[in-house]
Amino acid sequence: MRSADIRRKFVAYFVERGHREVPSSSLVPADDPTLLFTNSGMVQFKRTFLGQERRDYVRAVTVQKCVRAGGKHNDLEQVGLTRRHHTFFEMLGNFSFGDYFKRDAIAFAWEFVTGPAWLGIPPERLRVTVHHTDDEARRLWREVAGLPDDRIYGLGDKDNFWQMGDTGPCGPCSEIYVDLEWRPGMAPPALAQDEFERLAEEGRFLEIWNLVFMQFDRSADGTLAPLPKPSVDTGAGLERIAAVLQGEDDNFHADTFRPLLDRVGTLVGRPYDRAAPERVSYRVLADHARAVAFLLADGVYPSNEGRGYVLRRILRRAVRHAWLLGRREPTLAPLTEVVVAEMGDAYPELRARAGFIRDVT
Ligand code: ALA
Repeated sequence: MRSADIRRKFVAYFVERGHREVPSSSLVPADDPTLLFTNSGMVQFKRTFLGQERRDYVRAVTVQKCVRAGGKHNDLEQVGLTRRHHTFFEMLGNFSFGDYFKRDAIAFAWEFVTGPAWLGIPPERLRVTVHHTDDEARRLWREVAGLPDDRIYGLGDKDNFWQMGDTGPCGPCSEIYVDLEWRPGMAPPALAQDEFERLAEEGRFLEIWNLVFMQFDRSADGTLAPLPKPSVDTGAGLERIAAVLQGEDDNFHADTFRPLLDRVGTLVGRPYDRAAPERVSYRVLADHARAVAFLLADGVYPSNEGRGYVLRRILRRAVRHAWLLGRREPTLAPLTEVVVAEMGDAYPELRARAGFIRDVT
C-alpha cells in the first residue's frame, strides 16, 4: 500500500467514526516557547487537553508534520545510521478530548490495523505493551482485541509513559508492535518479556502506534495534576507503516524515501546500494531534504539561535554528506524539488513556497 493511500485511509476511518479532520499544524508551535518544533500530533491540541480551550468537536484526526531535532526528542545524530530515525516524519493520530477513553482507543486502533478494509495486518504479527501498572489496558487488549495475555507486555515509565516535553499533558501509554519476521502460516512464537524487549531493541519487533491515555498535566516542579477529563492522544509513524505494508524492514526503502535515494544516486552518478558503507550519506541527504523543505515552508530560516540554528545544523550535516559523496555542486536544492513533487499534494505549502525553498538550499 502506497503512503498516500495509508494517509487517506487513516483519515477516512476516523472521519467515519465521528472525528473531525483537522489539518496538520505548522512545524513551529503556535505560542509555545516550551517546545522547539512540533514533535507530535497532540501539540496543536495541548490547550484543549488542559481544558484551557474549547473546540466545537471532541474527536479529531490528523496527519501531522513533525520534527524531532533539537529539544527533548532529538534524533539528529542517529539519522542515516539506523533504519528508523528521521528528523522530519509524519504522524497519524486520533484524539479524544474528554470523550472516549481506553476502550474505544484500543478498539479503533485494532480495527484499523487488522481490518481487511484498512491496513489488514494479520493479528498473529502483533503484540502490544502497556504501562506495567495499567491492568485496565491489559484487560481491554484481551477483551476488545482478543489478544492472548502472553503477547501483552507491561513496561515501565521509560517506554510506556508519554509526555510532550518537560511540562504539559502526559499519561501512560500502550504501543502496538509488528513482528517483521512473521510469515503467513507461522504461529506467533512464545516470548518472555525480556526476549521480546531484546528483539524489539534489535529491530525484529517494530512499534507502529502509540496510544496515550492522557490523564495528567506535568508542572515544572515535576508534580502531576489530573487533567479535567481523561483523553486520548495517539501517534502512528507513517514511514514505519509504509515500510511494513511495502514489505521493507527499513523505512528508507519505502516509497516515502525511495524517490529521494534514487535522485541522490542520479546526482552522484552511482545508484543507492543498501550494502555500501556510503549508503549512510544517501540516507542523510534523503532525510534532511525533507526536513529542510518543510521547515523552510513553515517559515524557519537558518540562523544562529533556536529553531534557525537547528535548521542550520541540518543543512550543514546535509552538505557534509553531499561532500563525502564527492559532490561539489548544490545537492539539496534538486532534492527539495523531489520533496515538493512527491508531497506537494498532501502539503500545498510546499508548492506555494517552492521557489523560496530552492533559493535557500
Ligand atoms: N504523542 C504520542 C507520541 O508521540 C502519541 O508517541
